[in-house]
Amino acid sequence: MNVASVLLCILLKVLAVNCQGFAQERIVGGYAPVPHSIRYIVSLQTTSRQHFCGGFLINRFWVITAAHCNIGISKMVVVAGDYSLSIYEGTEQEVFPHFLVTHPEYNSTTNNSDIMLIKLRAPIYLNNYVSIVLLPRQDASIAEGEMCRVSGWGYTSPTGGQIPATLRTVTLPIVSAEKCNSTESFNGRITDRMLCAGYNIGGKDACQGDSGGPLVCNGRAYGVVSWGRGCADAEFPGVYTAVSKFRRWIDNTIFSYYSRCKKN
Ligand SMILES: *[C@@H]1O[C@H](CO)[C@@H](O)[C@H](O)[C@H]1NC(C)=O
Ligand SMILES: *[C@@H]1O[C@H](CO)[C@@H](O)[C@H](O)[C@H]1NC(C)=O
Ligand SMILES: *[C@@H]1O[C@H](CO)[C@@H](O)[C@H](O)[C@H]1NC(C)=O
Repeated sequence: MNVASVLLCILLKVLAVNCQGFAQERIVGGYAPVPHSIRYIVSLQTTSRQHFCGGFLINRFWVITAAHCNIGISKMVVVAGDYSLSIYEGTEQEVFPHFLVTHPEYNSTTNNSDIMLIKLRAPIYLNNYVSIVLLPRQDASIAEGEMCRVSGWGYTSPTGGQIPATLRTVTLPIVSAEKCNSTESFNGRITDRMLCAGYNIGGKDACQGDSGGPLVCNGRAYGVVSWGRGCADAEFPGVYTAVSKFRRWIDNTIFSYYSRCKKN
């Protein structure tokens, strides 16, 4: 952790937010998209409306995010339809979670299976500012070099001064597991439940402050922002949870909830 993120952690501790595993900056090397053009992204906020993670809507009742974004259900609000976090735009929809389903195999040491489902207490309205995103099929693969989009608000550095709290986005190529897992890079720490994306020379990346947000390739959310080493470092791409490895679990979890409701 660098000085900025240590300071941020102290600040967040003061605000009683568990910031373990979250880092400092926002999307690196990206740009601000046309407002409300990326409609499937949500901001996860504390009850005092501090953004701490991203997520994405897969239907009106369910959001996907990273398991390491679990700060406790009573501390979380899901905000859809947002663009600038600092301005009330009239397009926001705030919904509290009903329950959280962290993947049962999530391991915070290895970062494996870093995925969580959030069931919302009330349905989100889909409109010109809010939409859902499609998911890949179970075990669908995505080829090296395919271009994908990652978006997020990230954190502003407490020493950075400015707070341009609008959404940022960047497109990145998929990096092969072989390259990402090699001794020059993550050296065996990449599992088959992870995806890597980024440029060899670095410079463009998500930061852990963008955690939980979507990596979208060919119109489907193939990745969840999970972890990395620094941000936009050469040789160290961003690491994402491979959503296609969890498609069956996602469908089963949602289905079992609805069938349980029917019986009750
Ligand atoms: C996480 O993974 C490590 C390394 O494989 C293992 O030693 C540990 O028991 C795992 N923890 C959990 C909670 O499964
Ligand atoms: C897990 O992710 C954190 C960043 O969130 C990273 O520092 C750590 O090295 C990762 N663990 C492993 C075993 O790769
Ligand atoms: C990465 O390397 C480790 C150690 O050699 C191996 O266990 C793991 O399966 C590899 N990951 C992938 C996706 O091949």
